[in-house]
Amino acid sequence: MIEITHVSKSYDESRVLDNINLTIPRGGVTSIIGPNGAGKSTLLSVASRLIAPDSGHVRVDGMDVHKTSGDVLSRRLSFMRQDNQVAARLTVQDLVSFGRYPYSKARLTAEDLDHVECAIDFVALSDLRHRYLDQLSGGQRQRAFVAMVLAQDTDYVLFDEPLNNLDMRHARSTMKLLRRMADDFSKTIVVVLHDINFAASYSDLIVAMRDGRIAAVGIPRDIARADSLKEIFDMDFSIHRIGDRRLVDFYA
Ligand SMILES: Nc1ncnc2c1ncn2[C@@H]1O[C@H](COP(=O)(O)OP(=O)(O)O)[C@@H](O)[C@H]1O
Ligand SMILES: [Mg+2]
Repeated sequence: MIEITHVSKSYDESRVLDNINLTIPRGGVTSIIGPNGAGKSTLLSVASRLIAPDSGHVRVDGMDVHKTSGDVLSRRLSFMRQDNQVAARLTVQDLVSFGRYPYSKARLTAEDLDHVECAIDFVALSDLRHRYLDQLSGGQRQRAFVAMVLAQDTDYVLFDEPLNNLDMRHARSTMKLLRRMADDFSKTIVVVLHDINFAASYSDLIVAMRDGRIAAVGIPRDIARADSLKEIFDMDFSIHRIGDRRLVDFYA
């Protein structure tokens, strides 16, 4: 369980996180949605110890992340950031191997290599494993970063907009992979998404943020409604029911 209590964070005069209280249950997929600038990335950065909050606490299974060493936390929780800046002269294999750093530092064991292999295979980059990151398409690079956090093999995995740059096939396979990590490997997945239909189809819980606050928390059926979505995004939506599925339409 991730417990976020009274977390606030300001930059200069502006409050980016405004007294956030949120519990993310253990297991399953929790999606975070909300407009640009709502504070989603800042919240995940605070939860993963990259940014210290001005006030409040984040606990992961009872452990205060800001009082826990990086070494200990990085074996429990991994975070795929939205803005991945990394030396371009790194191959896919090198990048994914970094995921094993919390376990073995630079000396990879056979078990580490298995995790790396498996992660590269999962994101279908085996043929490109020796390519440098600057020789990949945006979507291929994004998949390499997904593989890095998979290799880290933590109970909690936070993804910030992992579908960026991905075509429809890879977007869907990434969502299926997150679902499988939760269902088959009992991991807790937290993922920032912009595609409301992906969020509604693949999540157990949706958290909506707006203006540095939690605007709504609920199961997909309760969030993927025209009234809830209008509140969060300040635009009009129509919801189409097709069998027992609902599709959110905002294209026209
Ligand atoms: N390092 C920073 N310095 C100043 N302002 C920042 C910084 N990081 C983020 N912000 C601001 O905080 C707000 C929330 O940003 P962010 O958490 O990235 O939102 P989201 O991920 O929901 O789009 C935005 O208005 C952004 O401009
Ligand atoms: Mg963001």
